[in-house]
Amino acid sequence: MEAPAPMNITLSNGAVIPVEMHKVRIVQRTSLPPVRRRLEAIGAAGYNTFLLRTKDIFLDMLTDSGTNAMSDNQLAAMMVSDDAYAGSESFYKLADAVKEVLGFDYAIPVHQGRAAEHLLAKVFVKPGDVVLMNYHFTTTKAHMELAGASVLELYGDATLQTASTVPFKGNIDVAKLRACIDKYGASKIPFVRMEATTNLVGGQPFSIKNLKEVRALAAQHGIPLVFDGSLISENAYFVKRREPEYANASITDIIREMMSQVDLFYLSGRKSTSVRGGLMATNSKEYYDRILAWLPVYEGFATYGGMSTKEVEAMAVGLREMTDENVAGASPDLIQYLVNRLEKSGVPVVTPPGGLAGHVDAKRFLPHIPQKEYPAGALAAAIYVASGVRSMERGTISCDRDQNGNETYADLELARLAVPRRVYTMSQMEYVVDRVAWLHGHRDLVKGLRFVEEPKVLRFFFGKLEALGGWDRDLAAAFEKDFGTGC
Ligand code: F0G
Repeated sequence: MEAPAPMNITLSNGAVIPVEMHKVRIVQRTSLPPVRRRLEAIGAAGYNTFLLRTKDIFLDMLTDSGTNAMSDNQLAAMMVSDDAYAGSESFYKLADAVKEVLGFDYAIPVHQGRAAEHLLAKVFVKPGDVVLMNYHFTTTKAHMELAGASVLELYGDATLQTASTVPFKGNIDVAKLRACIDKYGASKIPFVRMEATTNLVGGQPFSIKNLKEVRALAAQHGIPLVFDGSLISENAYFVKRREPEYANASITDIIREMMSQVDLFYLSGRKSTSVRGGLMATNSKEYYDRILAWLPVYEGFATYGGMSTKEVEAMAVGLREMTDENVAGASPDLIQYLVNRLEKSGVPVVTPPGGLAGHVDAKRFLPHIPQKEYPAGALAAAIYVASGVRSMERGTISCDRDQNGNETYADLELARLAVPRRVYTMSQMEYVVDRVAWLHGHRDLVKGLRFVEEPKVLRFFFGKLEALGGWDRDLAAAFEKDFGTGC
């Protein structure tokens, strides 16, 4: 049973709704193209939602990366940034915020999260190593593998069950961790990585209890703990709501408790801190020096690390703001609303609701499409045709082929409806629910996809596919029958 959250308000009819604890002061226009235009656009994009243009998109739910709403204080801070190449005062404000919020002495700005992963791989990983994680992220895995290592995921039994009530599906199975350390030996394990929250399996958090157990075991063997905090404030929010021991703790306290377990921290600042940048942080002078040596080669000088100093300023503010429960919980609460409404409409979704997005389970939504025909990719394309809403494939297309050219089938086939923080409203979520539920009613019309242009690495970004049998036209025709030629 989850603890109640402050912005989930009970109405007099008993319904609980997430009420926004902010005012919208700047807006951006969007428009809903008619279904015929959507059909043309998805065809031109090779049925890959990454290749759609914003002008053809109504609600952009591809990602929360770099698309969260910034606060008035963040925008104000950007105006006073210090553009000095070296010694920028903006950096020192960031370093102060890192010390205050995360408790680390050394802060290293980088241009975004994957830059941190690149440096991690460069500095800590050697060929033949085994990197252990709760779950991989696409760019993390690519960097570890490019450095010659393999990635092993040590999740528990519940993690891949999409319909579940297990509150912390992002936990590492400690028995598996012990077995791996015994099998490979500490010298082959450069670090254990905990991702908050596990992006590819539905934004699922881990508990502090689990983090502490993992850290204790790793530390016994001299293995450092690396924390990917891209959604650190959301993970902290779930700890507060789902881990009874922390029900009365503040987000600040929970973050500090998590950080007390961490040897090396990094994040994509594009998420929890609502800016375009990235960060690494540690209390180890040795780690800091080793990373710093490569920073000017790949990122930039130590006081900007490839980021605009405007974003450095805004990250300092964003770090402090994410400790506000209303900020940390803004996306999780709207996601919970979206997921609950989808579930009530009969749409198969990942439960419990996680951070980052509402996830639709394509294996259950489109059971007639085999994995080799990419059900999650087909679902993302179909959602766009049915609604003008852009979601993201998180399934087999997001896994590259192995070295022999064979498909690596994803554990889960998900269409991810990301909920960028403080950007969309409840009426927009109701629209999403309605159109996805309509699509579910017409799911038999949706068929698979086949690659026509397939890049070797991270193929989901630029790959182009075709719709088998031209099913998208049948879907658009069914839509027009029900809704006319409009939207
Ligand atoms: N780690 C996690 C957990 C992420 O979710 C991401 C990015 C990265 C690292 C890489 O950071 O994009 O700043 O280079 N996730 C984005 C997404 C791309 O859409 O979920 P980045």
